[in-house]
Amino acid sequence: DDDMPEKLQAAIRDVPDFPQPGILFKDITPILADPELLQASISEISATLPHQNIDKVVGIDARGFIFAPTIALQKGAGFVPVRKKGKLPWKTKSQSYSLEYGENVIEIHEDAVQPGDKVMLVDDLLATGGTAGAAVKLLKALGADVVCVSFLIELSALNGRDAIECDNIHSILQYS
Ligand code: PRP
Repeated sequence: DDDMPEKLQAAIRDVPDFPQPGILFKDITPILADPELLQASISEISATLPHQNIDKVVGIDARGFIFAPTIALQKGAGFVPVRKKGKLPWKTKSQSYSLEYGENVIEIHEDAVQPGDKVMLVDDLLATGGTAGAAVKLLKALGADVVCVSFLIELSALNGRDAIECDNIHSILQYS
């Protein structure tokens, strides 16, 4: 369905001043609630990495978790969570980053990926790239090969790609 990106785009709900004044929030819950759009959003993200065997699909807390495990199943890969600080119980590696609205720290379990593992990183949205950039740093520090970083939505004007150390970055829907 060549019109699918347009259908997905039409379903996204713009919410002004959430979670802070001046932020126009891209609400994807109407996509998730529609079976056809939910399936399409996952298929489109999954198709950004065709014909390649990967070991892990990594999702970022919290909305990356909506997409990454299903993509992992499709690819015969495992799922790995990158989480906000203090949520993971085992030994972790941490990375701080600045967000469109605030500062934060994300963590990954030290044994979540092995050196040489081929990984795909998935999140719902690329804004400044702080979050995904920090996740890529964590994965590389553990020795992983980050073969692809994919998003449903990219806020292109923020140039978030420049903050991500990967030359294979994809998004399904772009907003300027
Ligand atoms: C949002 C979004 C990305 C990140 C993108 O998550 O889901 O993870 O911000 O912003 P950036 O490119 O400027 O780093 P948020 O931190 O709001 O967390 P949540 O998914 O737990 O709501």
